[in-house]
Amino acid sequence: MSNKMWGGRFASPPAEIMEEINASIDFDRKLAAQDIAGSLAHVAMLAAQGIVAKSDAEAIAAGLNQVKGEIEAGGFAFSRALEDIHMNVEQRLADLVGPAAGRLHTARSRNDQVALDLKLWVRDAIDSLEAQFVALQRALAERALDCATMVMPGFTHLQSAQPVTFGHHLLAYVEMLARDRGRFADARARLNESPLGAAALAGTSFPIDRHMTAKALGFDRPTANSIDSVADRDFALETLAATAIAAVHLSRLAEEIVLWTTPQFGFVRLSDAFSTGSSIMPQKRNPDAAELARGKSGRVFGALLGLLTVMKGLPLAYAKDMQEDKEGVFDALQTLSLCLAAMAGMIRDLTPDAKRMKAAAGAGYSTATDLADWLVGALGLPFREAHHVTGRIVALAAERGVGLEKLTLGEMRSVEPRITDAVFAVLGVERSVRSRTSFGGTAPANVKKQAKAWLKRL
Ligand code: ARG
Repeated sequence: MSNKMWGGRFASPPAEIMEEINASIDFDRKLAAQDIAGSLAHVAMLAAQGIVAKSDAEAIAAGLNQVKGEIEAGGFAFSRALEDIHMNVEQRLADLVGPAAGRLHTARSRNDQVALDLKLWVRDAIDSLEAQFVALQRALAERALDCATMVMPGFTHLQSAQPVTFGHHLLAYVEMLARDRGRFADARARLNESPLGAAALAGTSFPIDRHMTAKALGFDRPTANSIDSVADRDFALETLAATAIAAVHLSRLAEEIVLWTTPQFGFVRLSDAFSTGSSIMPQKRNPDAAELARGKSGRVFGALLGLLTVMKGLPLAYAKDMQEDKEGVFDALQTLSLCLAAMAGMIRDLTPDAKRMKAAAGAGYSTATDLADWLVGALGLPFREAHHVTGRIVALAAERGVGLEKLTLGEMRSVEPRITDAVFAVLGVERSVRSRTSFGGTAPANVKKQAKAWLKRL
C-alpha cells in the first residue's frame, strides 16, 4: 500500500530501506505536544476565517486533544510507516474523527509545520534552561558570599599569580552565566516569529490569518517571507551556539573542580554524594560528575558543527536534509540541562579547605606584585624599575629557598637600600587581597558587595 497521506500518485509502497532512512518518528515524537498545539491554533484560525466549518473544527480540536492525552499516557502506537510526528498525529486523528480530519491540513504543509514545531520546542527549552541558569548562579553567589574572605591562589598560565578570594573566583562564573542567559534571551527574541501559514514555501491562496495563529502560539508576529520561513534554521543554530558557549563555561568550571579535588591541590572536597570510587584502588574519590560535565561539552559542540554543516549547502527552500536538525538540538539542550543541574549540585555540595588554599596562596612569591606596588607607592620608583628590583628580591628568596616574607630587611636592602620594614606589611596574602579595592577587584569588601548584589538580582 502506498502512503495514505501523500500516496495518491504512487502505485507501490517504499522500499524497506527507503522507509528506514526516511522515518523520523523515532526522534521527532518529542515534538508531539508542540505539533498538536500548532494544529489546534491552525484549525481555530481556519474556522474563524470560514475556511473549514465550525463543526468540523470542533471535531478536529476534540480529536487532537484526545490524541494528546493518548500520547501523554504513553500508550500511543507510533508508526514508522507514517514517517514522522505530523503524519502519526494526523492519521490517529482520522481514525478518531473520520474524514473531517483531512481538513486540518488545509493551507499548511509539513514544511511550515515542522519549522513551527521545532521553534516551539526550542523556545520551551530556552525557557526552562533560564531557571536552571539562575539556580546555578544562585548556588555560586551564595558560596561566594560565604567565601568572600577565603584566600586562594589566583592563576595565570596555571602558575600562582596573585592571591584572590575563592568568592571572587566563583563570581567570575556568575558573570559568565549571565552572558549565557543574555545569549539565550537574544536567540529567543529573534526566534519568536511564527512560520505557520508559509505552507510549502510560497504561502497559500486560502484567506488565512497568520497574525491570529502567531498570537495564539505566543509569537510576536508571523515571519515575513514564506520561503525563509521554511528554509530557516537560524533559531536552532543560534541556540546551539549559545549552548556551546555555555558548555565551554561549565566545562571550565568542571575542569577546576577536577583540579581542586586532587590530593595535590586539595582546595575543595566533594562529599560521597558527588564522588565515585575505583574498583581497584580503595583510596580513590573521583569527581566523575565534573569530568562528565567537561566531557559532554564535546557532543554539544558536535551538534552545532553538525547543523552548520547540514545547512550550509542547501538551496532554498526546504530540503529533507533539514530533518537532520532535530537529534542534535534535542541532545545538546538536554545535555546542557543535565550539566547545569549537576554543576549546581556540586557547587552546593563542595567543602572548601581554607587552610590549604591559604597555604597555596602564599606559595610561588604570589605577593611579588604587592612588593613592586609598595616600591612605587612608598619609595616613588617607576613601576618598571620596581618590577626589576622585585625580580631581584624574588631571585634572592629563591636562592635562599624561602618565601618573600622570610627574607630579612638586610637582605632586601642589599638589593634596594631605601626599603624599610614597613614593607613586611604588604607581603601577607590577606593584606594583598584586601588592598585590591579597584572596581571589580578581589578585595573581600568588593566580593561581598557583588555577591549580595547578585543574590538580590537573582
Ligand atoms: N519529518 C520532516 C522533517 O523533519 C517533516 C517535513 C517533511 N516535509 C517534506 N516536504 N517531506 O523535516
